[in-house]
Amino acid sequence: MLLVGAGAERLGKKRIIAETGAGQHGVATATVCALKGMECIVYMGEKDMERQAPNVARMKMLGATVIPATSGSKTLKDATNEAIRDWINNPGDTHYIIGGVVGPHPYPDMVARFQSVISEEMKSWQFFEKTGNNLPTHVIACVGGGSNAAGAFYHFLNEPSVQLIAVEAAGEGMSSGKTAATTQLGTPGILHGSKNLLMQTEDGQVVEPHSISAGLDYPGIGPLHAYLFESGRATFLSATDDEALAAAFELAKLEGIIPALESAHTLHALTMMKWVQEDIVIICLSGRGDKDLSTYMKHISL
Ligand SMILES: Cc1ncc(COP(=O)(O)O)c(C=O)c1O
Repeated sequence: MLLVGAGAERLGKKRIIAETGAGQHGVATATVCALKGMECIVYMGEKDMERQAPNVARMKMLGATVIPATSGSKTLKDATNEAIRDWINNPGDTHYIIGGVVGPHPYPDMVARFQSVISEEMKSWQFFEKTGNNLPTHVIACVGGGSNAAGAFYHFLNEPSVQLIAVEAAGEGMSSGKTAATTQLGTPGILHGSKNLLMQTEDGQVVEPHSISAGLDYPGIGPLHAYLFESGRATFLSATDDEALAAAFELAKLEGIIPALESAHTLHALTMMKWVQEDIVIICLSGRGDKDLSTYMKHISL
């Protein structure tokens, strides 16, 4: 993120904009803007501002202006719409820092490369240090805008022995009409300037996505993940809201980690696979479940 801030500075841009779902990307952008003394405007769905209030407070404390997106499902897609509108109206002084592997080229490629530090660290030392092996058998990550999965998969893409598993949000269930399982329900389409798989009507209208997590309810998956799905290089699974919640409570009790609700979807995938003794699995997991405490509190009796 620091590099991106420095890049914007070099381009002479004084105003930074970003979109955010769960608020993590917004907080990262606000942090670098505070450090660099740049103006920061973050677009966030109105619904997400409510359910991710701690991250809204963090962004504001860091000096950012958080602007609610009030159209559509009032979530990530709508925040991205507003950010793109801002960007095309202010081309002279504004740099757009996109959080997902979405948007027009070269953004999906750039974001995947920036996030690839995740698999670089896994592959170059973290995995060997923990297991004494060079390669895992599986890498699992959740997919909303696709960035953490792109980063976790990146340096394993050319390692055919490593199975890549992406987990989408099934929301209230695949046939409920309240879901974000793009690969299951999507068809090729164009959203936010790139061709990918998209939940859409026959007329090409975007279907409003739903997930209990603010970071996974995006109606597309970006071109990289669409390719990984269609080529079969990655396996796409999904977890419902309830399955993600149950996995989050289980992880907290078993490991002492309160996961971000997005990552909790990833954990559920562990119950969907057939494992053998030799499997060694990497899960891309965020422990920032503190941002989701208000949602967890509503379901604490599970
Ligand atoms: C902790 C966490 N994981 C996953 C995601 C999903 O986004 P992406 O698919 O771009 O990694 C988010 C989005 O805000 C997030 O905050």
